[in-house]
Amino acid sequence: MNSYDFGARVVIVTGGAQGIGYAIAERVVASGGTAVLWDIKSDVAEESAATLGRANWSAVDVVDEATVRAAVDAAVVAHGRIDGLVNAAGITGPVKPVTEYGPDEWEAVVRVNLTGTFNCCRLVVPVMKERNYGRIVNVSSVAGKEGNPNLAAYSAAKAGILGLTKSLGKELATTGIAVNAITPTTADTPILQGLTPEFIEYMRVRIPRERFVQVEEIAAMVAWLLSEENSFTTAATFDLSGGRTTY
Ligand SMILES: NC(=O)c1ccc[n+]([C@@H]2O[C@H](COP(=O)([O-])OP(=O)(O)OC[C@H]3O[C@@H](n4cnc5c(N)ncnc54)[C@H](O)[C@@H]3O)[C@@H](O)[C@H]2O)c1
Repeated sequence: MNSYDFGARVVIVTGGAQGIGYAIAERVVASGGTAVLWDIKSDVAEESAATLGRANWSAVDVVDEATVRAAVDAAVVAHGRIDGLVNAAGITGPVKPVTEYGPDEWEAVVRVNLTGTFNCCRLVVPVMKERNYGRIVNVSSVAGKEGNPNLAAYSAAKAGILGLTKSLGKELATTGIAVNAITPTTADTPILQGLTPEFIEYMRVRIPRERFVQVEEIAAMVAWLLSEENSFTTAATFDLSGGRTTY
């Protein structure tokens, strides 16, 4: 495992109570930094923060701007700074064709994945600007590049995250703030419980590596993106598809 010295750095991880977000928070703490878990599952977040040690948590619904704002304020009061933001909160929504998707179902998926990422970036960036330092990593998906059948809202929201990342990265390119996205393939986390076995198999057989990505492999890439060494790359998308996507 490569070592990073995150020292006094404070990194917010949305959706950090479990799964990919938790693995990233674990890597932040292992690198000497402090992780702040923002999650709608506050009981799980509380337990995860206690397990991590150098971590705390806030009950946040990324869709609800007021809870994001309150959590930003709490992080600033507690730590005086925010150096990193990982937007990992996400839901897949139901697996079915576009013609069977209800408008409310569509909205809910887009709101959590895309608008939630926007809400957190919008309110955290001003804090990062004060110190002219920041590393933002937005968790998109291979679905955002490829488009998965029967998962259009999720695919569209994840593609939207790539557009948001490119725009915000360019807006902040002359500052010390880097904004990048990652596009993982399937990882075995609780999010898979909302998908059908057929859909998971559809994903699996398309991975040239012939296995799912491990959450630690995702965290390894994100650790570098969050590190000071990532001093140049911004507005970019980092592939974690095991060979599925070639761009
Ligand atoms: N697991 C995969 O196969 C996979 C692949 C590509 C991308 N992703 C993305 O990675 C991210 C993390 O997913 P995961 O696999 O760890 O899933 P997960 O379900 O284990 O974790 C998602 C976390 O987000 C939280 N969350 C959901 N809605 C929220 C909201 N409105 N506000 C705050 N928190 C909320 C959940 O409580 C949960 O802790 C998601 O954005 C997901 O779309 C996952």
